[in-house]
Amino acid sequence: MIICSCQAISDKDIHAAIDWMRAADRRAIITPGKIYHALGKSPECGGCMKLFVASMRSNPKLEIPAELRGLRSRTQHKRTRHEGRQESY
Ligand code: FES
Repeated sequence: MIICSCQAISDKDIHAAIDWMRAADRRAIITPGKIYHALGKSPECGGCMKLFVASMRSNPKLEIPAELRGLRSRTQHKRTRHEGRQESY
């Protein structure tokens, strides 16, 4: 099925790009921009992004590597606990 009509990218192209990127680097963060780049194309109107991302999410290899999960919540937690103020402030 064609996902991006501007660049004639199908769901199979998206899955092939994800599989290729995951095989090359198992820790890679895969984004729509990286998929376009891997396919040698770039988005034009952006009207396909919702469907593009939905197609990406249907690929089981898109999963974020375990060692990179939860990084945001840990850093936010540190920031809220220690804002540079003294406890008595
Ligand atoms: S439909 Fe994908 S960029 Fe236009």
